[in-house]
Amino acid sequence: MGKYILTLDQGTTSSRAILFDAEQNILGLAQKELTQIYPREGWVEHDPMEIWSSQYAVMMEVIAQSGAAPGDIAAIGLANQRETTVVWERSTGRPVYNAICWQCRRTADLVDRLRSDGLEEHIRKTTGLLPDAYFSATKLKWILDHADPRRERAKRGELLFGTVDTWLVWKLTGGKAHVTDATNASRTMLYDIHRGCWDDTLLQAIDIPAAMLPQVVDCSQVYGCTDIAGASVPISGMAGDQQAALFGQTCFSPGEAKNTYGTGCFLLMNTGSTPCVSQNGLLTTVAMSRKGEVQYALEGSAFTGGAVIQWLRDEMGFFAESRDAEPLARKVNDTGGVYLVPAFTGLGAPYWDMYARGCLIGITRGTRREHIIRAAQESIAYQVWDLVSAMEKDTGLSLSALNADGGASRDGFLLQFQSDILSKPVRRPMIRETTALGAAYLAGLAVGFWRDTEELKSLWRQDAVFQPNMAQERRSALLSGWHRAVGRSRNWAEA
Ligand code: G3P
Repeated sequence: MGKYILTLDQGTTSSRAILFDAEQNILGLAQKELTQIYPREGWVEHDPMEIWSSQYAVMMEVIAQSGAAPGDIAAIGLANQRETTVVWERSTGRPVYNAICWQCRRTADLVDRLRSDGLEEHIRKTTGLLPDAYFSATKLKWILDHADPRRERAKRGELLFGTVDTWLVWKLTGGKAHVTDATNASRTMLYDIHRGCWDDTLLQAIDIPAAMLPQVVDCSQVYGCTDIAGASVPISGMAGDQQAALFGQTCFSPGEAKNTYGTGCFLLMNTGSTPCVSQNGLLTTVAMSRKGEVQYALEGSAFTGGAVIQWLRDEMGFFAESRDAEPLARKVNDTGGVYLVPAFTGLGAPYWDMYARGCLIGITRGTRREHIIRAAQESIAYQVWDLVSAMEKDTGLSLSALNADGGASRDGFLLQFQSDILSKPVRRPMIRETTALGAAYLAGLAVGFWRDTEELKSLWRQDAVFQPNMAQERRSALLSGWHRAVGRSRNWAEA
């Protein structure tokens, strides 16, 4: 048995590779930024070849950096940005179009059409999702409408569809495995999460030939091998990044939840073997499938979380490094009445408004850069408040604490404000790379690197707890301001 598990974490803004040992020590980490392509207002694309080359480069870099022999790698686990859609030629491996990113809104009108065709109820019941341009189905239709309008090549199986997991496993196995796991499949808006298969009604309605779809597999099993400097290493774990983070936070039992502060913010609660249907704008999704058993989750997805800080850095030029946001936000006692609603790509849960756009409101002559930075930080926490409150309404449970992870969870100001606005403790684990860790766990379990989930639970270590410290009156006033600001951002692009 090898000594390490290698995780590939292909996210929206970067490709990363991390090498873990059995005590979950990080022996090496390599990261490469991914180019964001914005061809038009509201459109977001990635180059699939860059997704692959950057992922491959960091994989090799982390091995070189850590000095590990490829033969010491017991298995590879993969976590990925979900919903992002790739179509490529089976024979050449060439993508027929750029990957359409999950954030892209170009198919909003196609979704409106599905609604007016009366498919909303069927989509909710079958896929657990709400009709939205966020999911893969209409992105796939859009690519096919442009690359294969009569569907001739797709019907013959000459074109293949995949989310980023599928694309990377296909590349890693030299085209031998065309697979996706149940968590990623559950984000396509084409997958029946109850029966565990692609849904014929939706395939027909959206005009997607079944011949181009990947086979749906468990999240923890050997899918194939990849060659690393002559060593054949099994790929044995795979999940959408948010589900991987839920697993990495060891939320194995119903009622356990985590929030990841990544590009977006994603709150997931394990609901066990029962899919929980939301009345408050959340999604029902597959949390994990192992050994043929499926666990479900309730999910609240906010599209712009940490990305608002990147926007201040890259587009506004307010600071050079994302980590500079925290000390700048701390320079002022409040936002001076400013609210920033980062609805850059519409609003996700619980609003589901594809036409909402960002809005900065409450500016006065005294507003400074620091106020806006603080308003951006606070906007992340307000969105998570919206998600937690919808989840508590849906489940009738009150979260005793929030488990936080992801890049922006290093920010102590953000987590303290989160705790204040939620009036709950916020717990941060020692390993904030829980997305990568979850994929490592899945891969390791499949090859016997770790014994079982009990063993994984015993490895979880806490880094910090943020305790709430804000008067109720102030909380209510701030939340009411936030909700008024959200109201101003709604339905903007349609107007
Ligand atoms: O659903 C989109 C999500 O998977 C993106 O995750 O980590 O790239 O923000 P991330």
